[in-house]
Amino acid sequence: MRKPVRKAVFPVAGLGTRLLPATKAMPKEMLTIVDKPLIQYAIEEARAAGIEQFYFVTGRAKSAIEDHFDVAFELEATLRERGRTELLDELRAWLPPPGDVAFTRQQRPLGLGHAVWCARHLVGDEPFAVLLVDDLMVGDPPCLKEMIDTYRTTGGNLVAVVEVPREQTRRYGVLDVVSDDGTLVEARGVVEKPDPEVAPSTLTIIGRYIIQPEIFGHLAELKPGSGNEIQLTDGLDSLISQGQPFHGLRVAARRYDCGDKLGYLEANVGLGLTHPTLGPAFRRLLATYI
Ligand code: UTP
Repeated sequence: MRKPVRKAVFPVAGLGTRLLPATKAMPKEMLTIVDKPLIQYAIEEARAAGIEQFYFVTGRAKSAIEDHFDVAFELEATLRERGRTELLDELRAWLPPPGDVAFTRQQRPLGLGHAVWCARHLVGDEPFAVLLVDDLMVGDPPCLKEMIDTYRTTGGNLVAVVEVPREQTRRYGVLDVVSDDGTLVEARGVVEKPDPEVAPSTLTIIGRYIIQPEIFGHLAELKPGSGNEIQLTDGLDSLISQGQPFHGLRVAARRYDCGDKLGYLEANVGLGLTHPTLGPAFRRLLATYI
């Protein structure tokens, strides 16, 4: 019997230098897309996929993230006094039950692989999901749900992938493809940020992963790779060498790269236009600018 994916790790300890100065005192995961912080979208996606436990690997300015998962006592008392029960109910309904959220600290930003390794005791010996919150995935089926449904068949390790122009391969982890049915891809290796001339394909990993727990042993042994950071991709590559299956899924959801200023603006426009209450007015407003 394959163990179900119940746990998700959210590495939120990066420096977010591409979004400075917005991220000087606030993690990028707390930046707002229309009316919710990025982190809230990621939690909702994870919940829709059946995730039960949420682990955050935090760095600087962690209190803003922790506070978002806490009861805001004064705020709630004031809302109650003012009779704003609908807002109060909305805030309350969203809060995960006590004990379902845990935080650990990556003291220094040594890379995504190192951040995931920091969650090893929380995850234990079962497959888990990793969500990079600055990749906002919007669509139906929700990205992680589509992946978990596929994982029931593939097992092993599964990542979300997109095709990129060849000149962009040095920004991503790239798959060395064995077979490809147009949706699901099997890979015999992954390379972090290869130069376009040597990239094994143009199929790149975006921020959603389902990973087997054996990765922690590999991450512990890794030396810093590309960018002098401990790369998650190198850990995944070691799992493939060890004989574990590795698949990429071209997911149905649309990706907004909110770790980048232009992608962040695009997400606000995209989600603003389709927002259930603000959408129509926002569309009229936008038309006056273009
Ligand atoms: P990025 O590659 O986007 O790096 O990390 P970054 O530092 O956040 O942002 P830039 O490039 O300086 O603008 C991808 C994900 O991995 C996490 C980040 O928080 C982000 O969710 N991460 C990265 C860590 O948690 N720790 C690290 O040491 C590096």
